[in-house]
Amino acid sequence: MATHPSHAPDGTAPTEATDTPPGGYERHRAPVRAARAVALAGGSEKALARHRARGKLTARERISHLLDPGTPFLEVGQLAAHDIYEEPVPSAGIVTGIGMVERRLVMVVANDATVKGGTYYPLTVAKQVRAQQIARENGLPTLYLVDSGGAFLPMQQDLFPGEHHFGRIFRNIAEMSALGLPQIAAVMGACTAGGAYVPAMADETVIVEGNGTIYLGGPQLVRAATGEVVDAQELGGAAVHTGQSAVADHLARDDLHALSLVRAIVARGPARPLPPPPLAPLAPLRAASEIADLIPVDSRQRMPARAILERLIDAGRLDEYRARYGTTVICGTAAVGGYPVGLVMNDGVLFSESAQKAANFIELCCQREIPLLFLHDISGFMVGRDYEAGGIARHGAKMVNAVATARVPKFSLLIGGSYGAGNYAMCGRAFGPRLMAMWPNARTSVMGGAQAATVLGLVREEQMRKAGQDFTDADRRAMEAPVLAAYERESHPVNAAARLWVDAVVDPADTRDWLTLSLAMAAGSPKEETRFGVFRM
Ligand code: COA
Repeated sequence: MATHPSHAPDGTAPTEATDTPPGGYERHRAPVRAARAVALAGGSEKALARHRARGKLTARERISHLLDPGTPFLEVGQLAAHDIYEEPVPSAGIVTGIGMVERRLVMVVANDATVKGGTYYPLTVAKQVRAQQIARENGLPTLYLVDSGGAFLPMQQDLFPGEHHFGRIFRNIAEMSALGLPQIAAVMGACTAGGAYVPAMADETVIVEGNGTIYLGGPQLVRAATGEVVDAQELGGAAVHTGQSAVADHLARDDLHALSLVRAIVARGPARPLPPPPLAPLAPLRAASEIADLIPVDSRQRMPARAILERLIDAGRLDEYRARYGTTVICGTAAVGGYPVGLVMNDGVLFSESAQKAANFIELCCQREIPLLFLHDISGFMVGRDYEAGGIARHGAKMVNAVATARVPKFSLLIGGSYGAGNYAMCGRAFGPRLMAMWPNARTSVMGGAQAATVLGLVREEQMRKAGQDFTDADRRAMEAPVLAAYERESHPVNAAARLWVDAVVDPADTRDWLTLSLAMAAGSPKEETRFGVFRM
């Protein structure tokens, strides 16, 4: 987590600058740092120079000036789109995250016009929709710093027509406004076509003189459609929209003025200061910076669960639930930064007993309104004849049911592997964690690469045998190698973050800060009542 204005909002700058853990962990962290550097750099030097020549601040500078000085910024989706498209699209061309403005927690959505004119790729749309979802679930006002050419036209079919595509952004604005969550826009550059509906639908809109433009069709399109010749400012500049059309409400001289106007609008809105932690925040038993040294070099090895807990939770104190039963899952109540949390942490594979214990513990947390934190290091549920006969699918389903329907705030952190149905039972992305992160050493896929290669090898061997052909060891090795390589690449945290399967890659040493702000945010959010589904007994 970064603070302002001393650091860029990069999620982890303070730790990276000061400590470099030795040994195996660095192997895990290096690719994450490299991806982060690409994300933070934004667009090309040429695009940046043109941007500055127009008197504009960058997206990250705008955020720095918008937030209360010295307060943290919890960036969401920083590595989005990394290495996904033919050309680099750092941070998917949009910076999103949670920060403080006028002592209110807000969601910020800022287009980066140095990345392809701030146009929306499919993952740009997905990232903005995700930011809005977080804002809605946690009751945050959303501030849009708009500077975008709208849809990235070559990929329109992947971002325009679908249920969760571009239209969802505008529906979300309307629905959040209807819920009483302020929607505030500052138009600091282009705002074209569909994009024009962001400021037009916002509750209150600021526009920057000279640089801000809002129009449904730009000058070229107008000329082609009607023959009218008009320049960008005459068509949709600040003077038109604050003096004639009333699409915008406030005229700003420049970026800094616009940001101060946005802050003033937030200050006029409902005050909802962060609730203080209900318990006195305590340091962990041992320093969180020691966690890196506990991480095995080989990501297939299990993590030392209890040693990690001592370094994560306040005073290392866990009020453990059924400590002597179902011991491959650790359940218990603890605090992070003074905020109570119900912990569900793997310490081995999930058995029927551990799944039932976790389901029961989740019920208790819902009844007592304690937020849940899932710490994943899970290869999956136990397999085998005895376990199937013992009903492991039924017992596992109880845990999945409880996780899915629990309506207390849920947070998910992948500290090691997170595979198969184990990922579901531990509140994977599909189960609605309010925020989800991965450590650089963590991995996630439907199963481990070695297991997938073995399964595919056995299937092929059977096919060849039926066809009366041999399947040699060399055939097996040739088949397995690309599967292993693909799984290593696909299960990596950079790939997961690039595709928005997780909201952030967080270093272990920064995890307490990340969790504290997440829990503080949830503590101030509207409560929901839990209603569980039918548990198969
Ligand atoms: N789709 C795809 N690419 C686009 C684009 C769009 N809608 N708008 C701009 N780009 C690309 C440009 O081709 C250029 O790519 P390059 O860097 O590889 O050359 C890059 O984005 C920057 O555009 P450029 O025009 O050089 O920058 P600018 O800062 O002077 O202007 C815009 C930016 C967005 C104002 C301007 O490009 C524009 O008006 N684009 C059209 C917007 C539009 O009509 N959108 C309709 C969406 S439904």
